[in-house]
Amino acid sequence: MRSIKCAILFSGNGSNMQNLIESLHNKIFYDNANNPVRLETTLTLCNNPSAYGITRTHHLAIPCKIINHKDFSSRSDFDNAMIEMLRAHSIDIVLLAGFMRILTSCFTQAYQTINIHPSFLPEHKGANAIKESFNSTQSYGGVSVHWVNEELDSGEIIAQEKLHKIPNESLEDFTSRIHALEYSLYPRAILLALGLKDSVKSVEELQ
Ligand code: GRF
Repeated sequence: MRSIKCAILFSGNGSNMQNLIESLHNKIFYDNANNPVRLETTLTLCNNPSAYGITRTHHLAIPCKIINHKDFSSRSDFDNAMIEMLRAHSIDIVLLAGFMRILTSCFTQAYQTINIHPSFLPEHKGANAIKESFNSTQSYGGVSVHWVNEELDSGEIIAQEKLHKIPNESLEDFTSRIHALEYSLYPRAILLALGLKDSVKSVEELQ
């Protein structure tokens, strides 16, 4: 059976990383010709040695490699170290889940990479998207999943959904609803990007 090997890159809390592993790892999906395809999260990679997400990977029993960007003098040296690690694990596709470094063109040319962003892009790019969309005059926020290029939060959209604001809602409640939408949208968008149908069977069920 064909396998697609994914790597997930994260920098902090890692809740989207955990959700992707729980939703997709070692599950069987079907391509357009109805052939089964197994998705495998072979590796996680973190640039921040004190990220809470590292603890999550231990509980999930998924390998986590730490490559600290501070150990490199340039962005491209850091990106090349990650590329080397990904190649050593025969990774097919990279999924960003709260990875807080901008990737250079050497990375985006080497790997097809997908990102999730907590706003209805192109609105509210950057690190403060949830707060900015909460404070905006728009009646909605949203979540977008997109291909990654060298420009921040600017690659082609794979899937996006709006989240309508509730009058008098707190920032905390709005943030929780954004995260819940992320957990629902990101796995579905990855399957869409890979041309796979959501016919979930675990490897154990097939044996
Ligand atoms: C998420 O809101 C994601 O959209 C953004 O960074 C946040 C990461 O959260 N890119 P977590 O680390 O997955 O909990």
